[in-house]
Amino acid sequence: AKATEHILAERRDSVVLVSLNRPKALNALCDALTRELTEVLDATDQDDTVAAVVITGSAKAFAAGADIKEMQPKNFVDVYLEDFITSSWERASTVRKPIIAAVSGYALGGGAELAMMCDMIIAAESAKFGQPEITIGVLPGAGGTQRLARAVGKSKAMDMVLTGRVVDAAEAERIGLVARVVPDEELVNEAVAAAKEIAGYSRPAVLLAKESVNRAFESTLAEGLRFERRMFHAAFATEGQSEGMDAFINKREADYTDR
Ligand code: CAA
Repeated sequence: AKATEHILAERRDSVVLVSLNRPKALNALCDALTRELTEVLDATDQDDTVAAVVITGSAKAFAAGADIKEMQPKNFVDVYLEDFITSSWERASTVRKPIIAAVSGYALGGGAELAMMCDMIIAAESAKFGQPEITIGVLPGAGGTQRLARAVGKSKAMDMVLTGRVVDAAEAERIGLVARVVPDEELVNEAVAAAKEIAGYSRPAVLLAKESVNRAFESTLAEGLRFERRMFHAAFATEGQSEGMDAFINKREADYTDR
C-alpha cells in the first residue's frame, strides 16, 4: 500500500485499488494529481504481481474534471507547449493490464474522460456523468468528444457535449456508457470482485482479449477481425488454453498458472 498527496493505492490480493483522494476539490484533476496517478499506473503496470487495477474516487465524486482554477489563467501557448491535457492524462488508456473505473458521484469533464479511458466503468447508483466543458467556454480535451461518441453514438454524445447535460447512472447504463450499475455501498467490492475474477484467468488470454477489443476502435471491421483471429491463434500457444479446455472436458475447475 502506498499513498501520495492525492492518491491512495492499496493491494487487494493481485488487484491494486487506486483511490483519487483530493476531497476538498471533488478530486479535480490538478497537475499534481495527474502526475501522481501516472506514477502509480506506471508502477502497477510494471509489477508482475499485479493482475488488474481499479480506479475509484470518493462517494461524492469520482472526479469533477480538470482543475478549473489551474486552467483559467492559461493561454494558447501555455497549453500548446505543455500539450495540455492529454500528455499527462493518457496513462490510464495505455495500461496493459485490465483497468476498471468504479464511479460514484460526479464524473464530469476530465473525470468522465478518465473513466472512459479505463476498460470498463462500473457505476454506483449515485453516479453522474457529464461533459460540462461547454458551460465554461471550452470543449472536452481528453477524449470526451471521441471516446464518448464511440461509446454512446452521435446523438447522445452531441447532447452531452453541446448542452452539458449530465446523465444519471440508469441513463448511462441504458446508453452503454457503463457496464454495470450497483448500489453505492457495493461499488468498490463489486469492482474489485470483477477485477479479481479477471485476475483469475490466464493472463495472456486476458491481455490478448483486451488488445483485441481495443482494436475495434482503431481499425476497419475486416482489419479488426483479422487481428482477432491472429490473437485467437496466439492463445493456442499458451498454457491457459490447454488447461482451460482440459478442465472443461474433465469437469473440473481450471487452475491457471500463467497468471
Ligand atoms: N476544478 C477546480 N475546483 C473544483 C472543480 C474543478 N473542476 N470542481 C469542484 N471544485 C471545487 C470547488 O471550486 C469547491 O472548492 P471551494 O470550496 O474552494 O469553493 C469544491 O470543489 C466543492 O465544489 P462545489 O462547492 O462546487 O460543490 P457542489 O456540490 O456545489 O457542486 C459540482 C459539485 C456540480 C461537481 C461542481 O463542483 C461543478 O460543477 N464542478 C465543475 C465541473 C466541471 O465543469 N468540470 C469540467 C472541467 S473542464 C475539463 O474537465 C476539461 C477537460 O475536458 C479535460
